[in-house]
Amino acid sequence: MTAMTSTSRPFLNRRLAEFGTTIFAEMSALAVRTGAINLGQGFPDTDGPEEVREAAVRALRDGRGNQYPPGPGVPELRGAVAAHQLRRYGLSYDPDTEVLVTAGATEAIAAALLALVEPGDEVVALEPYYDSYAACIAMAGGTRVPVTLRPHVEGEASFRLDLDELRDAVTDRTRLLLINTPHNPTGTVLTRAELAAIAELAVERDLLVVTDEVYEHLVFDAAEHVPLATFPGMRERTVTIGSAGKTFSFTGWKVGWITSTPTLVAAVRSAKQFLTYVSSGPFQYAVAEALALPDEYFSAFRDDLLAKRDLLSAGLAAAGFTVFRPAGTYFVTTDIRPLGESDGFAFCRALPERAGVVAIPNAVFYDHREAGAPFVRFTFCKQTGVLEEAVRRLKAAAG
Ligand SMILES: Cc1ncc(COP(=O)(O)O)c(C=O)c1O
Repeated sequence: MTAMTSTSRPFLNRRLAEFGTTIFAEMSALAVRTGAINLGQGFPDTDGPEEVREAAVRALRDGRGNQYPPGPGVPELRGAVAAHQLRRYGLSYDPDTEVLVTAGATEAIAAALLALVEPGDEVVALEPYYDSYAACIAMAGGTRVPVTLRPHVEGEASFRLDLDELRDAVTDRTRLLLINTPHNPTGTVLTRAELAAIAELAVERDLLVVTDEVYEHLVFDAAEHVPLATFPGMRERTVTIGSAGKTFSFTGWKVGWITSTPTLVAAVRSAKQFLTYVSSGPFQYAVAEALALPDEYFSAFRDDLLAKRDLLSAGLAAAGFTVFRPAGTYFVTTDIRPLGESDGFAFCRALPERAGVVAIPNAVFYDHREAGAPFVRFTFCKQTGVLEEAVRRLKAAAG
């Protein structure tokens, strides 16, 4: 017998066939080639607090975390995550059995879905969704069932969840709800009433819930972040995901975590141990210190981004876009139709040459591409001067 090779079969596993190259790679390359201001990918252009950086240096020098840290994460960080959930939300987790440190939220999402989803299971997720959700559901062999957040333009424009659509999306095959609040890319923050309805549905249909709350500290105006795990019946069925990347502006460190019950944490850890096993040793110690920063750090961080949100939102409105001013996250979604455009892909591909700015077409975050076609996302986690220049360019291009 000879080994069989097939010329007709593509190298890439067919489960992943639809996930070629991310739009972020294409748009960031375009930014470099054209010298455009990159408001596409969500990474800050200023590093986080000096004392947190110094904490990482100290850990490196002291030889803390330079070798494999413990599988669940270093005790200092697990303790700090548990203390943070208690101090902020009154949620009590045992650092030894109910906290797991991951390689960013990205690995937390992957490990949770690989652990909890089997082929044939349906995963209900809010569309548009962060791109790794669809890929991870596919890797787990699950079927994604999108529930589309719909644009509402009366009053303050926003994208809203239709709770009836959510209820209708749940079937006997639904294994879990994958929730994201504050929501990337729309900036929607689910209200207490919406979260209560999601919780009731999860309890009634006995569903697991994975909730991505990486923007928990970026909530503006009257909006409030309420973890799903705080609702009745939810702590025991919810895996909550957090990340230091967004809250402390160290996206390259890739330190994330989950909090959940001992059995759910053990399940997610079973998958996680064969992905990275462990990661980011010295940075884990630094993030433990970061999580214990006083409230003033968190409020100053939020106020800074609030001012930037207002700057960019006003600038985009002045340049002719319809602006969905976000209640959370550091992204603002716009509608390009008032500019006489309707195809976000074509618009974003032309924008660097036309205006010297890079943005992301929201359609990449949709299964129902047509529902996302006219929407384009800009990030405002950049220095004020950079945002001012981007606004100047967009206004000039608008004429
Ligand atoms: C909603 C959401 N989840 C997860 C992540 C990934 O987080 P991390 O960098 O910690 O892996 C991001 C990053 O943009 C995100 O926007």
